[in-house]
Amino acid sequence: MSNPRFNSVLLKISGEALGGEEGTGINPKVIQQIASDVAEATKIGSAMGVVIGGGNIFRGVAASAHGMDRASSDYMGMLATVINALALQDALEKEGVDTRVQTAIEMAEIAEPYIRRKAMRHLDKKRVVIFAAGTGNPYFTTDTAAALRAMEINADVILKATKVDGTYDKDPMKHDDAKKFDEISYMEVLQKGLKVMDSTAISLCMDNSLPIITFKLTEKGNIARVLNGEQIGTLIK
Ligand code: GTP
Repeated sequence: MSNPRFNSVLLKISGEALGGEEGTGINPKVIQQIASDVAEATKIGSAMGVVIGGGNIFRGVAASAHGMDRASSDYMGMLATVINALALQDALEKEGVDTRVQTAIEMAEIAEPYIRRKAMRHLDKKRVVIFAAGTGNPYFTTDTAAALRAMEINADVILKATKVDGTYDKDPMKHDDAKKFDEISYMEVLQKGLKVMDSTAISLCMDNSLPIITFKLTEKGNIARVLNGEQIGTLIK
């Protein structure tokens, strides 16, 4: 193992990432690729927690916009993250990575409950810990769950894997003249309304001085690149 840039990281993967091009369902090839990238990155030696979204299966916010009760739709979204967590655990274990899933909503037959000290012990043993079911509360996104868990496990940074290679002043998929930031402050992200993470997650990171690195997930080896200290993506601090 090399001397890692970070002792401990929290990787945030969106649910849509597992769906590949369509962004829905779980694409076996895509999840295997993600697992292989995470497996490579774990060799660098940083302890790694993972928070995964659920938008490929169910989007709570979208359903509530169509009239569904917000709390119910958010709980459905949380259940979707558990499905993704189990899929990712399976894919990671096929890559030979010891993995534990902990869920914020107790379902003991399916996964361990979230117990911070137990999670820390798993991380000490270099197991990847996947935190499922968000924060366990409606009205909070999985980005906020990522910020919360990152703080709880004393992570040095949140690695926010995205579809594009960093944070831009406008959507680079829609605007050719979108400008990428190498570095930007939390306050600017909030003031400019950049869609990095929701404002609750950004505020939590700002208040606790937890840096965020946004980078492109689908480029092979990118997680390892970030852990090795290569300046890719955007640093938010
Ligand atoms: P150490 O004892 O620290 O080495 O951790 P461990 O995770 O190997 O030990 P433990 O005996 O706690 O867990 C063994 C296996 O059972 C692991 O795969 C855990 O994820 C799983 N496990 C532990 N607690 C629960 C639970 O409440 N529910 C479910 N479904 N699985 C659990």
